[in-house]
Amino acid sequence: MQVCILMGSPRLNGNSAELCKPFIDELRLHKTDVEYITLHGKRVAPCLGCYRCQNVAGEYGCVQRDDMQAIVDSILKADVLVFATPIYTWQVTPSLKAVMDRMYGLNKFYGSVPRSVLNADQAYALIATCGYDLDYGAGLLDEGLRRWCAHSGRPYLGMYAARDDDDLASFQTATAITGAREFALKILKYKRNSRNGKQEGNAAL
Ligand SMILES: Cc1cc2nc3c(=O)[nH]c(=O)nc-3n(C[C@H](O)[C@H](O)[C@H](O)COP(=O)(O)O)c2cc1C
Repeated sequence: MQVCILMGSPRLNGNSAELCKPFIDELRLHKTDVEYITLHGKRVAPCLGCYRCQNVAGEYGCVQRDDMQAIVDSILKADVLVFATPIYTWQVTPSLKAVMDRMYGLNKFYGSVPRSVLNADQAYALIATCGYDLDYGAGLLDEGLRRWCAHSGRPYLGMYAARDDDDLASFQTATAITGAREFALKILKYKRNSRNGKQEGNAAL
C-alpha cells in the first residue's frame, strides 16, 4: 500500500502537520509506504483553463512546466491520496487549490481523446484542521471532495478533522492523536481493485 499526502499549510510545523504525524506513524507501523509532500514553496501555477490536457491521451498532458509534473508522478504511484489542509475561508489553502485544479488533466472527459481517468482506482481522503466547529468549519470541503470523487467515479474514504482551540496543543491531545491513528487504520482497509483506464465519470464539471 502506498499513500501520498499533499500537505497544503504554509505552516510546515503547524496544526495540520502536527495532525499528520500520528497518522503517518500509524501507517508506517503497518508497513505502508508514505510520501509526504509539503506544497508551500512549490512552484505550481494556477490552471489556465486551456483544456489542452483534455486532448492528450494516456498521460497528464498539462502544457505548464513547473513542479506539478513531479507532484503528478507521486500522485499516480499512490493507492490512496490524502489532502491535508487547514481550512482557509471554508476551502483549502491556495497552494493546495492550485494542485487540485491542475489535477484536471488526470480526467480526460472533455476533449477529443477517449474518456478515461488516469488514477481511476485511487481513493482520496481528507485531513483538515479548522477554527470553527468541525461541521461548520470543514463540512463544505468534505462535501466538495465527496462530489469530486463521485465525479471521477473513485472512492472517497472521508475526512478526519480536528479543531484549533489552542493552536498546536489542540492537536497533541490524546483525542486528536487517537483519531488520527484510527483514520490511518480506516485508510489501510482500502483495497485497490485495479480498474486502470476506467471509462467512467459523471456530468461535466
Ligand atoms: C487565512 C485563514 C483563513 C482561515 N479560515 C478559516 C475558516 O474559514 N474556517 C475555519 O474554521 N477556520 C479558518 N481558519 C483557521 C485555521 O483553519 C486553523 O487555525 C488551522 O488549524 C491552521 O492550521 P495550520 O497551522 O496547519 O496552518 C483560517 C486561518 C487563516 C490563517
